[in-house]
Amino acid sequence: LPVVNIGICGLGTVGQGVWKHITRSRAKFESRLGAKLVLKRASVRNLAKKRSVRVSKSRMSDDPMAVATDPSIQIVCELIGGTTVAKEVTLAALKLGKTVISANKALVCECGPEIFAAARENGGHYFFEASVAGGIPIIKALREGLVANRFGRIYGILNGTCNYIITRMEREGLSYPVILKEAKALGYAEADESLDVEGWDTAHKASILAYLAHGTWVPTKSMVVEGITKLSQADIQFAEESGYAIKLLAVITRDLDSDELAVSVAPTLLPRTKVLANVNEVYNGISVAGDVVGETVYIGRGAGQDATASAVISDIVDAIALLLRGNAPLPEPVEHQCPLCLPE
Ligand code: HSE
Repeated sequence: LPVVNIGICGLGTVGQGVWKHITRSRAKFESRLGAKLVLKRASVRNLAKKRSVRVSKSRMSDDPMAVATDPSIQIVCELIGGTTVAKEVTLAALKLGKTVISANKALVCECGPEIFAAARENGGHYFFEASVAGGIPIIKALREGLVANRFGRIYGILNGTCNYIITRMEREGLSYPVILKEAKALGYAEADESLDVEGWDTAHKASILAYLAHGTWVPTKSMVVEGITKLSQADIQFAEESGYAIKLLAVITRDLDSDELAVSVAPTLLPRTKVLANVNEVYNGISVAGDVVGETVYIGRGAGQDATASAVISDIVDAIALLLRGNAPLPEPVEHQCPLCLPE
């Protein structure tokens, strides 16, 4: 079998999730891809820190650049976050023609065009399914599944931390700093949690969705962005009594006649009759209105180790299939064992 070596830059919450699930389901991925997957190396900031996955010392490094440029590694997962070191290792790996997989919404939003160009020019690929809405395959939906459409309106709950906070405020009347602490402990919040609660994380994700839907990069400075820090118990109660839920929504509207495009992020009243008004806790939800297909709605966990790892691994599998065969793999059929059928 051909061997594919994977390097993980950043073995934090998401990186450990990727390591855990690849190790657990390796046989399935290998049989589907017809390739051997090797988690070759991982980089961490602090080599002494205890982690939930067992990685031998020889595979660990405290130098992400050494992992990203290791000649034996074909696929680099950038799970560092932020836009400094993450950008350097991404560009270095792409310039070597490697494939880079990222969960980094801030980086895609701020440097997308430069990164995509680096991938194109060097024959590599850049995948970023995990950058928006955790485990929901919304990037693939917009990029592939809905390609026939023009999109008048896309709106969604794109930040798990804020949705978790709002839900707990609604249900338990707790104040937001208390719940934010829990969201951090659960691995939902950003290292700098102001990105979550002040709406910037949602804005980064909205910018990525707007680009995929409309081919235009809308910088966050051109958006009206308001987070949930001013949301009070009184607001939430008032909404509830009036038949609404408050959600931190990203709204991307395009006038299909004039082509005018607007992106905003703000706490918004949603009638309880809407599906997304009932998307709670760490779940994200996105409504996409296409002119050909009509409305499609996506719901799933938007943050946390497993949901995000699910998206990163889907990119790893796609990337390997692309490297080896040029398309996404189908499962190997196994004979159906029907519990209802009588034996012959
Ligand atoms: N902090 C982000 C969130 C993580 O809560 O949605 C996933 O992008």
